[in-house]
Amino acid sequence: MGVFIYEFNNKTASDQDIQDLKELIYKHKIVVIKEQDLSPDQYCDFGYRLGDIEKYYQPMYHHPEREEIFVSSNVPENGQQIGVPKTGKFWHADYAFMPKPFAFSMVYPQAIPSKNRGTYFIDMFKAFRGLPDDLKSIATESSCYHSVRRFFKIRPDDVYRPISEILDEIEQVTPPSKHPTTFTHPVTGETVLYINDGFTYRIDNSEEEPLDTNILQKMLAISGQLDNRFEHPLIEHHEFELGDVRIWDNRSLVHCAHHAANSEPTISFRLTLYDSYPFYE
Ligand SMILES: [Fe+2]
Repeated sequence: MGVFIYEFNNKTASDQDIQDLKELIYKHKIVVIKEQDLSPDQYCDFGYRLGDIEKYYQPMYHHPEREEIFVSSNVPENGQQIGVPKTGKFWHADYAFMPKPFAFSMVYPQAIPSKNRGTYFIDMFKAFRGLPDDLKSIATESSCYHSVRRFFKIRPDDVYRPISEILDEIEQVTPPSKHPTTFTHPVTGETVLYINDGFTYRIDNSEEEPLDTNILQKMLAISGQLDNRFEHPLIEHHEFELGDVRIWDNRSLVHCAHHAANSEPTISFRLTLYDSYPFYE
């Protein structure tokens, strides 16, 4: 999956160029724009041309100057933690646990480790196509619940709080979201299997009765998300280089961050965007 784009400059790009870029994202699912050198303001300017930026619901992830930027970083600045270290190291689609997930995720690395850098992706349209017929028909007639609870990151202020209070707060602030197990992508028309190992925990039939969670586990296994060795044929590893701005279709793909085992400096800036279509019909 994916295409590289060279010699792109947001300052000189026409509205048609931006439209063409969006079409490339839908068509190829991943677009990497090479050799970018953007300040936080310039990065946000670029994001706003592609869609409406949604800032992350938790302020501890925000960039100190631009709250729209979600910062993943293990590098303190002036003794202060900026953003949150080692984010997204599990299979997920961004904001699947929210009622209205967004169309595009955009990542701009600022410091990268010497090895083990990149992101794993799975195309959940291909995963749907790979289901046997019985699971396909269950998938098209069911819904799933998604919650952030398993991967909610404890905040510095949570230290010494009872775990039950934190869990109650998670349920209150981000109650589970229910989405159809499959939906039609509003642009490509593909059927997307919208489940992920990190957030999806329950599958209901069309009568809203819970189904055996083994069904969900089988679908996740066929999609490749339960392969701890990352060797499943649907898993693609995409490395990044400094200067890359990677944008992907957050409807079709699930992803899993690949973090270095050591503590080499790693910083990336993420923007998340709505397009002009509903997430699904
Ligand atoms: Fe993510």
